[in-house]
Amino acid sequence: MESGKLRLLALLPILASFLLLYFDFFPLAYRTRCSLIPYRHYWIASKRIVTPSAVISGAVEVKGGKIISVIEGDDWQGKARSKQVYDYGEAVVMPGLIDVHAHLDDPGRTEWEGFPSGTRAAAAGGITTLVDMPLNSYPSTVSEETLKLKTNAAQGRIFVDVGFWGGLVPENAFNATALERLLDAGVLGLKSFMCPSGINDFPMTNSTHIKEGLSVLAKYKRPLLVHAEVQQELEGDDLATTEGAGNPRSYSTYLKTRPPSMEEAAIKELLTLTKETRVGGSSEGAHLHIVHLADSKSSLQLIKEAKSRGDSITVETCPHYLAFSAEEIPDGDTRYKCAPPIRDSHNKEKLWEALIDGDIDMLSSDHSPSAPELKLFDEGDFLKAWGGISSLQFVLPVTWSYGLKHGISLEQLVSWWSEKPAKLAGQDLKGAIVVGNYADIAVWVPEAEFELDDNHTVYLKHPSISAYMGSKLSGKVLATYVRGNLVYEQEKHASVACGVPILAR
Ligand SMILES: *[C@@H]1O[C@H](CO)[C@@H](O)[C@H](O)[C@H]1NC(C)=O
Ligand SMILES: *[C@@H]1O[C@H](CO)[C@@H](O)[C@H](O)[C@H]1NC(C)=O
Ligand SMILES: *[C@@H]1O[C@H](CO)[C@@H](O)[C@H](O)[C@H]1NC(C)=O
Ligand SMILES: [Zn+2]
Repeated sequence: MESGKLRLLALLPILASFLLLYFDFFPLAYRTRCSLIPYRHYWIASKRIVTPSAVISGAVEVKGGKIISVIEGDDWQGKARSKQVYDYGEAVVMPGLIDVHAHLDDPGRTEWEGFPSGTRAAAAGGITTLVDMPLNSYPSTVSEETLKLKTNAAQGRIFVDVGFWGGLVPENAFNATALERLLDAGVLGLKSFMCPSGINDFPMTNSTHIKEGLSVLAKYKRPLLVHAEVQQELEGDDLATTEGAGNPRSYSTYLKTRPPSMEEAAIKELLTLTKETRVGGSSEGAHLHIVHLADSKSSLQLIKEAKSRGDSITVETCPHYLAFSAEEIPDGDTRYKCAPPIRDSHNKEKLWEALIDGDIDMLSSDHSPSAPELKLFDEGDFLKAWGGISSLQFVLPVTWSYGLKHGISLEQLVSWWSEKPAKLAGQDLKGAIVVGNYADIAVWVPEAEFELDDNHTVYLKHPSISAYMGSKLSGKVLATYVRGNLVYEQEKHASVACGVPILAR
């Protein structure tokens, strides 16, 4: 009996070391199947790691979901056990993309997209964080209660991290308590429309509402995102009565209903309010962000001037304005309909210039799908079809492919898709490969070409509505890590959706 007890005691250290080994090699992530790899401590090696200071050859050391060292050269090889090294050779290792503008339509319109398909597609496209828009889901995210519906819907159903914008609408704009509750509950900022949104429970705001919103946002130092188009009298025709404006199957008919002057007039009106966001202004601390700029001329000029005056303002554009031009859009092909509309090729070239010069700060997808029957009418009526481009899974290869002839660099991609978006969304620990940040990483091969044909796995709910289907693109995503979990690799996803709903504190 004595000796039996002793033997048991002698076994304890052995048991303990097995337990330790178990936790080291098979951490929580693995046991809950959040990740396609079993380690919590490992190295990602590559000849092309995009860090803020340079593209280096070396390794990123990851432990417990964070980056704990970035090592240039071969020094890491001595430290790393070979099993814990993921060597991607010449493939690019860069911060995951942060998409600050996506409509995942969950809850309420999951037949359009939904969190599971949307975030699977995001992961397959190298996106590690996205910020969901407050409209197109039902109900719209305009209160603490409706935000709760969002976060509940996201629970256990997101493969990447998801943050939320709240809605600034006439109903809450004059009610500071309601806005404060929404912000306290964690929305990263607010979004409003200066023209009808296309969604009944998300009405447009005027400049008074926007001013009220900015004064509340100032206390929280969070941004207001604005859809900047205002309705105007169009050569005697009102926008609402576009019948008779021309052949509805012709893209040019639609284009005429939303001229650049609609963007210009909206931005002009907004800029009367940005004075208040300047140092010393009544809304100091607030920030204005113009979403999906399409007009590269007067509208952009106004924004440039405001920036040089010191206004707190940023602007994004989207890949579809950089890839497509109005002249090329076939009659009846309503996959290309979005608002503001895709303009001519000269405008497109100017947008690229502005992006490269830093006048446009960042990119976003504005992934805005719908059910195919709303998007693809048999008759190809541009005036009736749903406006919104489906793109979430393709934004990285699209930006790269169309940017190649403009000579864009990996560092620019990171600035437009990770670094600046992280800043807008207030995510200090994202958007760069630096020590202390979350290990949110995209691994991809810029040189790898592929066709978006029937053989390409598209995770979006409705691949057929995407204007990119049929394109030949360059830049294949191999693997995506979110907080150290390998959530996607070579057409496989982690078996459990362990993305984190991001709430501002
Ligand atoms: C303002 O919002 C709060 C919280 O939603 C609500 O309880 C209150 O009735 C609202 N006040 C007005 C005047 O509508
Ligand atoms: C905006 O609409 C509100 C009513 O919701 C109204 O009180 C206000 O005067 C309007 N502001 C402008 C600039 O039209
Ligand atoms: C898809 O792959 C199959 C088998 O490799 C091939 O026969 C077919 O032509 C491909 N389809 C397209 C659209 O390329
Ligand atoms: Zn949008």
